[in-house]
Formats: sequence, C-alpha cells, structure tokens
Amino acid sequence: MTAWFDVSKEGLSKLVARRGSHWILGELLQNAWDAPGVTMVTVSVEPAGRGLTEIVVEDDSPVGFSNLTHAFTLFAESGKKGDPSQRGRFNLGEKLVLSLCNEAEIATTTGTVHFGPEGRRNSRSKRAKGTAFRGLMRLNKVQAEDAVRAVRRFIPPQGIRTLVNGVELERRVPVRTFECTLPTEIADEEGVLKRTKRKVEVNLYQPPEGMPGTVFEMGIPVNETGDQFDVDVGQKVPQSFERDSLLPSFLRDLRVAILNNAAELVEEKELASDWVTQALGTDGAAPEAVSSVVTRRFGEKVVTFDVNDREANDRAIAQGYVVLHGSTFNKEQWNNVKAAGIVKPAGQVTPTPKPFSPEGKPAELVAPTPAMARFEGFVRAFCLAAAKVEVKVSYLKWFNATAAYGERNMSFNVTKLGKAWFEGPLRQDQIDLVIHELGHEYESNHLSTKYNDALTRLGAKAVMLALENPGLFDLSRYGARQDMKVSA
Ligand SMILES: Nc1ncnc2c1ncn2[C@@H]1O[C@H](COP(=O)(O)OP(=O)(O)OP(=O)(O)O)[C@@H](O)[C@H]1O
Ligand SMILES: [Mg+2]
Repeated sequence: MTAWFDVSKEGLSKLVARRGSHWILGELLQNAWDAPGVTMVTVSVEPAGRGLTEIVVEDDSPVGFSNLTHAFTLFAESGKKGDPSQRGRFNLGEKLVLSLCNEAEIATTTGTVHFGPEGRRNSRSKRAKGTAFRGLMRLNKVQAEDAVRAVRRFIPPQGIRTLVNGVELERRVPVRTFECTLPTEIADEEGVLKRTKRKVEVNLYQPPEGMPGTVFEMGIPVNETGDQFDVDVGQKVPQSFERDSLLPSFLRDLRVAILNNAAELVEEKELASDWVTQALGTDGAAPEAVSSVVTRRFGEKVVTFDVNDREANDRAIAQGYVVLHGSTFNKEQWNNVKAAGIVKPAGQVTPTPKPFSPEGKPAELVAPTPAMARFEGFVRAFCLAAAKVEVKVSYLKWFNATAAYGERNMSFNVTKLGKAWFEGPLRQDQIDLVIHELGHEYESNHLSTKYNDALTRLGAKAVMLALENPGLFDLSRYGARQDMKVSA
C-alpha cells in the first residue's frame, strides 16, 4: 500500500521560511520541555560557515522519544494531545524545523535517526537518557542571532534549567500568581482536539525593559499583546498551527482574569488602555476589580450625568465630582460599572433641592397679613414691569425652600420667612429674593450662564425702573388683595 500523501521538503521549507527564525528554537525547546522527567536542557547555536548554522538541543529526560517514527511523520497522533500540561499537539513542529536543515540527527533512548542529502537512515545507537537534536540549518548569522535573542524571552518552567549558548535562561519572578478557569484544548477519546475550560495557574511578569507584553503558553511566547504584563498560562492555550496567534475570545477571557486578580497592580498609564477597557466590558469582570480601576482612573468622587436633573450635574462639578457622560463607556462597560455600585447619578448625590415634597402634595396656603397683601401687589407689578410676566403669588406653610418659582407662580415660605419679614418699607433682601425667583422665569439651573445673565439683566432693569418710576417700589401704594381664597 502506498501512502496518500508525500511531503515536499523543499516546498515546506519555503512556506516555513517566511516566518523568520524566531520560532525555531521555540519548537525545539517546546519538545524538550515536554519530554517526561526533564530537568536540564542545553541549546547551542553556532555558525557553521557557508550561510549555515548548527543548532543542538539536548535534554536529560530519562524516557526520550517513545516513538522515533514521530520524528519524521507529519501529523501522527501526538501523544501530548490529551495532556493540557504539555505544549505539543500537532505533531508538526519538529518537521517544520527539519525542513530548514541540510543535515540533521535525532539521537534518543530508542535509537537514532539521521537525515542527509542521501535521505533518512536509522542507526541503532541509543542514548542512555535524553534526546539530542542536531541540525545544520540554512540560517545566516543575523537570523541565528535573532533566534537566540528570541529565546532569551522564554520563561523557563519550574524545575527545568535551560542553558542557551552556555547562559542560563533567566528565572523571572512573577509579580502575581493566581488560579482561574480558562479555555484550553484537549483531545477526546477519538484524538480530536476539543475546546474545554479548565482551571489553570497563571503567572504575571513585568516585561523586560522596552519589550511589549506577551502571552506565553507554559513559557513559550504565543502572542505579543503590548499589554502591561507578560502572562504565562500553565496549560495549552487555543491557538493556530503557526503558534503565533491566540483566539480573540481567549485573549478576552484571559484579560478579565488578569483584571480580576491583579486590578491593584494595573499601572496609572494602563487604566484607560485597550486591555483594561476590554476587560471592563466583559462578562465576569469582578465588581471589586471594576471599582478599583474606575475609582483610580476618575477619582473617588464620581457621578454619572443625570438627564433628569441637569442642575445636579453642575452642582456635582462645583463640589469637585467628576461627571461621567454616557460616552465614557460602552453598554457592556456601563453594565459592569453600574453593577459595581460605585457611581450614582448626579441627581442622587448632589440633587437640586425640590421645593415641594416628592409626593407632589401642594403645601398649605397661609392667610396673608395686610403687609403680605401689599407685598404681593408689589411683586406682581414688578414682574410685569421688569419681565413682562403676569405672576401669581402664593403664601405657603412649610416647604423645602425659602421661596420657589414655577409656571408663573411665585411662592413664599411663610414658616421660614415669618410674617414680620413682609412688614415695613421695601428692603434689599426682599428685592433680592424676588429677583432670584423671577430669574427662574428664564432658567431653572442656578449654576448656568443663562440664569446668571437673567439675574444681572433683572438687577439692571430694577435699577432703571427705580430711577424712572420710584413709585413702583413704594409698598404703601399697593392695596389689600381680593383675589385669593385662603384657608384658615
Ligand atoms: N526531546 C524530545 N523528547 C521526547 N520526545 C520528543 C522530543 N522531541 C520530539 N519528541 C517526540 O516527537 C514528536 C513530534 O514532535 P513535534 O514537535 O513534531 O510534534 P508535537 O510536539 O507532538 O506537536 P507540535 O507540532 O504541536 O509541536 C512529539 O510528539 C514527541 O513525542
Ligand atoms: Mg512539538
């Protein structure tokens, strides 16, 4: 029987060449770190002249290759598929590396296989332990240096020392270690890789100076994100054949997990970054994490813009609050921010005082004294002269303000002012209160420019009226009122 497929090594090597050289040691180290019981791996990368580089990767696994035919069988069932704590799965990586070699040799506990111009050949020599991969590769000096530089970024797993050209890979100290549940891929009984969720340890590291944050799969870089942390996920992460990109949904889940477990480590300059913003708008963002980020970004004093009480927004600003507008977050982010219970609408924090009770019950009328009746006459005449509006005047028992104005009705709180307040000749504080209330004919918001303008205009108008018609301000000219039914 002949096989369905043959593989063109030349063709494969050309496809692979476009990926550069940074991934090569990744594939070889991945296999060495996956080897059962390994404690030590050495990598050497040496120029071999004529545009060639010799790469040797050797490990000390007591087991070595269990099936040496996998060294040259593309897509054989990888024994690592079912184990989320091993990195390999495609049974492809080693072959991709071999495609770039002019000559190679894999020596292991179960035998040795040689690859050369004359083809593939097995020899019986066996190693007592471990595997040595030796390849003469078409890499020039610059490409070889690139490969070595890339591998310096790797995060060596616990318990495995890794030497690259004699220098041990740096053991980095995580800034945070936590457990969470993340998507991974594990083969089912038929050997088909399936996505599933699984508990995993995640380590966060400070990226080396000048390096973008990167996601690692058990020490091997998968995807540069530019986020604040280098993130090492302790199990298989769902990714493509080329091992260079993550599923977007996985990255989102990972970012939420990071936010939930390290919110207080998020740097000031990262608070509004893409990754934090994305995590903020994702299901599962913890209220404490959302709260920590939002309060650090905007301060402790935050309210949301209140469309139902516009003055409250200005009052909030005047009291040093940051008012968050709808556009600050998207819908999902708002959901999480609201669920965290940290920001209330301005109307609940710095409400505009409402003169009447919330039930809307009208306050009780008070029978006016003669002085109050004269004062009413003055108010109506003044409002007509100054603002061309016909107002009604009400004298009321207790409500929440000294006076109020609405729908051309000016109400005075007699309980607060006292009946004596209306006695005697016209005073400045009386005109002051009337102008304040009449200003609301133009604008309700005390803190607006429009209201401010109305007040200065009315003030100026009052002066002009006083000069032109001083009699208008003579309270004694106004008679007792006729038109108001008054309760006892
Ligand atoms: N250093 C090693 N020690 C023991 N076994 C090894 C070693 N290197 C390779 N192997 C074996 O060779 C097989 C082929 O390696 P290869 O890298 O091609 O595939 P993989 O690691 O299974 O999957 P992937 O393509 O995802 O890397 C591995 O499954 C493993 O069984
Ligand atoms: Mg592999």
